[in-house]
Amino acid sequence: MKLFSPLTLGEMTLANRVVMAPLTRVRSGSEGIPGPLVVEHYRQRASLGLIVSEGTYPSHAGQGFPGQPGLVTPEQLAGWRNVTDAVHAGGGRIVAQVMHAGRVTHEDTNGGYEVVAPSAIAIAGETRTSKGKKPYPVPHALATDELPSIIAEFVTASRNAVNAGFDGVELHGANGYLLHEFLSPESNQRNDQYGGAPENRARFVVELTHAVAEAIGAEKVGLRISPAHNIQDALETELDDVQATYGALVDGIAPLKLAYLSVLHAAPAGAFIQDLRRRFDGPMLINSGFGIITTREEALAILDDGVGDAVVVGRPAIANPDLVRRWQDDLPLNEPNPATFYSTGAEGYTDYPFYDEALSRN
Ligand SMILES: Cc1cc2nc3c(=O)[nH]c(=O)nc-3n(C[C@H](O)[C@H](O)[C@H](O)COP(=O)(O)O)c2cc1C
Repeated sequence: MKLFSPLTLGEMTLANRVVMAPLTRVRSGSEGIPGPLVVEHYRQRASLGLIVSEGTYPSHAGQGFPGQPGLVTPEQLAGWRNVTDAVHAGGGRIVAQVMHAGRVTHEDTNGGYEVVAPSAIAIAGETRTSKGKKPYPVPHALATDELPSIIAEFVTASRNAVNAGFDGVELHGANGYLLHEFLSPESNQRNDQYGGAPENRARFVVELTHAVAEAIGAEKVGLRISPAHNIQDALETELDDVQATYGALVDGIAPLKLAYLSVLHAAPAGAFIQDLRRRFDGPMLINSGFGIITTREEALAILDDGVGDAVVVGRPAIANPDLVRRWQDDLPLNEPNPATFYSTGAEGYTDYPFYDEALSRN
């Protein structure tokens, strides 16, 4: 079964093609420092071919959730060093997902910093802050001459990640956060060269990816995208526009020869994503999104049908630290408990049993 065969991404050789999805779990406290519980969580999952860390902020202003870890302070980086050492000791590989929340945050969450986005358009609805639920703020529209400082934050955070022992970084261009806000014509209504036409909306992500690749090496950089995911008001509803925008993005980064492109899309086998794959001409990681939880059958089929090079798995990896073994031997699975996804403590985080442990409890 191809799913359980090795794969090389840039400099990394993965033991199998089951990739742990980036999964925000908000257990790093008010200072954003991954502690022993976070170390244990990732250590337990080292048998996945690759772990992508939860979304991790490159600057305080970019913090999206209370309890989210950062890649900024020495204490945060020391915490991550314990995580990466534990994963490597278990034979695993781990990259840091670098995530700037853009407008998907609040001053009560990001330490009082200005909330920034491509345009001064708020998300409808409320966000959970450390002081309860509040309406999303109207973000400050980043001026053209402010964009290099955001790119510099990503470069520094990516260097920090490598220095903390990560095998590389994944730039979070998905799910309605800052990079995705530049791509969507709803959240990006700029008049400069970073807004308007599809190539212009793709420009910021292309430039940022180039800068990070130059700083740490393209073979250590992946990018995650979620075209037409239509989440957090980063709407992309015109198919022609979506194809043109992501086509420009992929054409702009293809010459770099990145470690991988990770795509979250409901129809990964369809013509659109497969066209992007041809144009990217490198390893593509596939996740079909939140609609249906990823199953063993789907994961096997993505590899056997040649849809992608690896499968990115979220909720099953939350609930099954030994997911690879369970899928390989077709063993029963633990069920994830959504009530503990964003809670605190060990419950629903480090207490999902391994298969043998579950057997001995019965
Ligand atoms: C609790 C939770 C946290 C998530 N956090 C992130 C995140 O930090 N970054 C990201 O790109 N996607 C995040 N996602 C999306 C997952 O990576 C994945 O795309 C989604 O769970 C669908 O895959 P699945 O069916 O295998 O669970 C999160 C999903 C869940 C359920």
